[in-house]
Amino acid sequence: MATLDTAEPSRRDFLYIATGAVGAVGVASVAWPFIDQMNPDASALALASTEVDISAVAPGQIITVKWRGKPVFVRNRTPEELKKLAAMDTKALKDPQSDADRVKKGHENILVVVGVCTHLGCVPTGHAGEYDGWFCPCHGSVYDASGRIHAGPAPLNLPVPPYEFLSDKVVKIG
Ligand code: FES
Repeated sequence: MATLDTAEPSRRDFLYIATGAVGAVGVASVAWPFIDQMNPDASALALASTEVDISAVAPGQIITVKWRGKPVFVRNRTPEELKKLAAMDTKALKDPQSDADRVKKGHENILVVVGVCTHLGCVPTGHAGEYDGWFCPCHGSVYDASGRIHAGPAPLNLPVPPYEFLSDKVVKIG
């Protein structure tokens, strides 16, 4: 004899559904403390971005700030340095990029780059090397004042992190 399929859940179905729901709630309440622990705490979130007062960075000066555990160089480039960079032929570089593509319009003097050599991760020295940019003492990579690689084993320019000008004096990195 054929049984009638009914959309109404039987009493037994209801029991299964109810047990399943309790199970799901149980899992959720057990899982939450673990998930919550995985969320970054307020101090870690604060480090996700760093605000830098650049009014204290004199022309020609480089400061190093920490962002997400890495050094970031903020360099206030002089008009002479900008002139030299503009005159450079960059097509032959390993990682060709114009200086204009690495800075914010209207704030061309300020360069913000992650201070980690793209070869094996040493921290390059500022105002050093053939181009008075950065020199990596580990294996001799030479960067210019735009953080672009000119010589040595590093394959790429010093990376430009995400950043924005909150005002003429404050840069937010991250
Ligand atoms: S880590 Fe900089 S040149 Fe090797």
